[in-house]
Amino acid sequence: MGSSLSFRLAIGLFAAAALVACGGSQPAPAGPAEAGATPSTESTPEGGGDLVWKDDMPDKDKAIFMKKKVMPVMGKSFQEFDPKEFAEVSCKTCHGPQMKPHPVDFLPELTFKDGKLKEAEEHPEMAKFMHDKVVPQMAELFGKPVYDPATKQGFGCGGCHKINM
Ligand code: HEC
Ligand code: HEC
Repeated sequence: MGSSLSFRLAIGLFAAAALVACGGSQPAPAGPAEAGATPSTESTPEGGGDLVWKDDMPDKDKAIFMKKKVMPVMGKSFQEFDPKEFAEVSCKTCHGPQMKPHPVDFLPELTFKDGKLKEAEEHPEMAKFMHDKVVPQMAELFGKPVYDPATKQGFGCGGCHKINM
């Protein structure tokens, strides 16, 4: 895993950083807890088969999507990657013990310096796993393309981590 990995990571990260930079305003953090008012559960299919992610769907539906769609896929991937460390994958693996609405407010920040991801040196396997599995799978779950620097569209590292340049 020599230079080609860090090169690819560098591209992905630069892309993610650009995504973050262009992301615009953060909505006021609405606690996932206070979802009682939305009547949308009725229309949400219980089996989860037709659940589709939309960035502007109600938090309550996002939580259902996370439970039915994200958890099975991500739980499996994280457990396969490291069965000990991720023996118990839960919402908190990404949202933290306080259930921050956005994983970027909980997960470790990534530092991109001199064209390289600093954390890739300390945690090369983790970085590779993130790049090869987590990002593509999460992008697919969200129905978004993997971040493409050419179009500046899609889902990348910056979807879950705060990026420092
Ligand atoms: C593998 C990581 C991961 C796991 C596990 C996960 N989430 Fe998420 N969650 C995300 C990402 C990424 C987003 C979308 C990015 C964002 O909104 O900042 C998100 C968004 C959300 C939102 C929308 C927040 C908002 O205000 O827009 C809710 C609610 C939510 N998740 C609840 C949950 C619940 C409940 C669980 C457990 C059943 C869970 N999540 C598990 C990664 C995860
Ligand atoms: C769907 C959410 C998600 C996405 C997207 C994501 N990560 Fe992660 N990342 C995590 C989670 C969850 C952890 C584990 C945190 C822990 O150890 O509890 C993590 C941990 C890491 C770590 C270990 C950091 C440390 O200090 O322990 C690195 C490095 C990392 N990610 C790099 C990346 C890179 C590079 C990308 C883009 C190619 C990326 N991540 C995309 C969720 C995500």
